[in-house]
Amino acid sequence: MTKIGFIFKKENVNLAKWELERNLVSFEVVSESEKLVIAKISEIDFEKIVNAQTFPFGAIDRIVQIYEHASLNKFMDDIASNFFVDSIEFAWLVDNVELETCTLLSKQILKLARKYFKKIETNNIARTLSLGDLQKSENIVEVVFLKRENEIILGRTIKFLNPFYFKELDETRPGRMFTHGTSPKLAKVLVNLIKNKTGTVVDPFCGTGTILLELLRQGYDVIGIDNDSKVLSLARKNIKDYFKNNNLCEKRNYTLINSKFENVEFKATASVFEPYMGPFLKKIPSPTVAKAILKELNFLYQKTFQSLHQNLEGDGEIICILPSIPSKLQVHELNFDLIFQDKFKLSRSKLNSQNPIDYESKKGNRIKRKIFILEKINF
Ligand SMILES: C[S@@+](CC[C@H](N)C(=O)[O-])C[C@H]1O[C@@H](n2cnc3c(N)ncnc32)[C@H](O)[C@@H]1O
Repeated sequence: MTKIGFIFKKENVNLAKWELERNLVSFEVVSESEKLVIAKISEIDFEKIVNAQTFPFGAIDRIVQIYEHASLNKFMDDIASNFFVDSIEFAWLVDNVELETCTLLSKQILKLARKYFKKIETNNIARTLSLGDLQKSENIVEVVFLKRENEIILGRTIKFLNPFYFKELDETRPGRMFTHGTSPKLAKVLVNLIKNKTGTVVDPFCGTGTILLELLRQGYDVIGIDNDSKVLSLARKNIKDYFKNNNLCEKRNYTLINSKFENVEFKATASVFEPYMGPFLKKIPSPTVAKAILKELNFLYQKTFQSLHQNLEGDGEIICILPSIPSKLQVHELNFDLIFQDKFKLSRSKLNSQNPIDYESKKGNRIKRKIFILEKINF
């Protein structure tokens, strides 16, 4: 087992823990704070994470090697053996350690670094570099200071999320439609939450295919359903383009169906989707309008879950994002008893993470969204 730190934004704490739980085969949480989990993970998981071609998480930003009980000399030796360069830049990330202590430690680290590097630059200890800044140079060492039971532990960021990755995915696919698109980042988070890592996954509201593409990237076979033929042709274009660009000799199976999903029979092991969420709201609606939208959505989602219960096999997992509609008076919620009935239940987290999980909405989006992790109740 290797001790690794996983760092995320405070608002992503629940999602990050779910991502760990659903993607590591064997791990044990050693400690946690509001933006960090330290876990002992198996060698297999470690190799998988470190060798992944793209950063494997969506809600976790950084992966940190932990140097427990290591002397500063040993710590610096390790940095030197990882950076064969003349000039180096130090960045600092602090979690729960007093600034004076960090300043003192950083000075000692910089002094030791002079033995190994000709030119050394350092960033302000009180300012964590953004992921974009970290991405700018390969010669940045991000040192992490963290505290556990009054002991200060040193760490070093060994992998981080390329903040331009999702933007690039979004901008380079040929078929885009602002009103029908899930963000590639959300798609990655949703797909990462599926427990079974193989099988056929259905997106009953597939739109331009953002979720389907992430599923294909992660090795699933997919079924996409949408009742809008124009949008579905964009999904087809995106998938064909993805296969072409990646020279995939062994293509994954994909089926696209132009129909209302309630009229389709299919066989799948799981479902991931962001459904239709009502009309685009230019301003906060009145309570009457919000209630009318929810009535329509309750009906649509009730049919969705009925169909999924009939067509999903085995564990029948569903990872989806569902809305609530704020009006001037209150936030109006869907009728979940009606929607899920006795057909699906919320999955329990081993790490006591929230479910459903709050997900920050895009700027300007008035609808509030939550991610639901559900499993089929077999009669
Ligand atoms: C929020 S979009 C899905 C976004 C999609 N994940 C993507 O990345 O493009 C919702 C989609 O549901 C489709 N839709 C609405 N009602 C439907 C129904 N009854 N059956 C199938 N598709 C439906 C719409 O045409 C729209 O493309």
